[in-house]
Amino acid sequence: MDIQRVLVVGAGAMGSQIALVCARAGLAVTCHDIDETRIEAARHDLRERSDRDVAKGRQSRADEDAAWQRLTFGTDLAGLAAEADFVIEAAVEKLDIKRSLFADLDRLTPPHAILATNSSSFVPSKLADATARPGLVCNVHFFNPALVMKCVEVVAGPQTTSETVEAAVELVRRLGKTPVVLDKEIPGFVANRILNAVRDEAVFLYESGVASVEAIDTACRTALGYPMGPFELMDLTGVDIGYFTKQARYAETGDPRDAPSKSVREMVERGDLGRKTGRGWYVYDESGQKIAPA
Ligand code: CAA
Repeated sequence: MDIQRVLVVGAGAMGSQIALVCARAGLAVTCHDIDETRIEAARHDLRERSDRDVAKGRQSRADEDAAWQRLTFGTDLAGLAAEADFVIEAAVEKLDIKRSLFADLDRLTPPHAILATNSSSFVPSKLADATARPGLVCNVHFFNPALVMKCVEVVAGPQTTSETVEAAVELVRRLGKTPVVLDKEIPGFVANRILNAVRDEAVFLYESGVASVEAIDTACRTALGYPMGPFELMDLTGVDIGYFTKQARYAETGDPRDAPSKSVREMVERGDLGRKTGRGWYVYDESGQKIAPA
């Protein structure tokens, strides 16, 4: 399948960075959001990252300008979807919203378009039957920060065709990323299941009074070689994102081990969501530098 035009739905941290990754790879990209202010914030954030990558010699100015020429943002889903060959949905992690989006995308995109979700919690079969093209539905799951992290999990549901998986893998390679294909769908996929097990143990150790947040992060970095400790990583990805993902999993399984922990719930209630609010497990200054444990 010849993929030339990609539609990214959702201009949050993940969607906007995925859109720039696609534009840098030579694809024509449209990025949709229902909220004009989020689009402006995404443009601003991506421009800063572009400028830094050019200043550090990671991208040439000419290549970066060409990538921006291929990238269009907007709020009119019908207009942006009309010519898409491949959709990457990176909207909010709420199943009813995603299902209704997939039904709209099914109506608005050409019949050959693959409808992929970047969801970290919902497997393809949760979305496929919201469309009349279940064979063309799959997950392509990027990691945060999407401009940097190499892995993209490609997940097929029971109805996803092998041609869809092949096209998704080919696209991921074209983006300069490393595809990891799952042979069978499972909530959380591979990397997040492993990561969540580590995070849950870290929160258990903290809530049990065994060690401080900083001490646990330091152990993970210096004993296990992690680039960031689990608390630092929660602050990067958003404390609320992990909370909603666990809550959705808990609603599905009823397993108490899947319930969000007390400290995380309290942080979400207080609005301490990590770097994006300046306070999570740590406190950050205006330039995003970590100052101290919260
Ligand atoms: N967005 C885009 N680029 C970023 C970034 C961000 N939020 N943070 C860092 N970078 C890039 C920048 O280009 C930066 O270089 P400059 O500051 O020189 O421009 C470069 O990464 C290196 O950053 P730093 O020197 O500040 O720090 P670092 O060497 O520790 O690298 C990191 C930062 C790449 C984020 C690294 O710490 C890391 O790999 N951390 C672990 C990330 C991880 O585990 N991600 C998976 C999260 S789980 C997930 O994503 C699940 C999901 O379902 C969404």
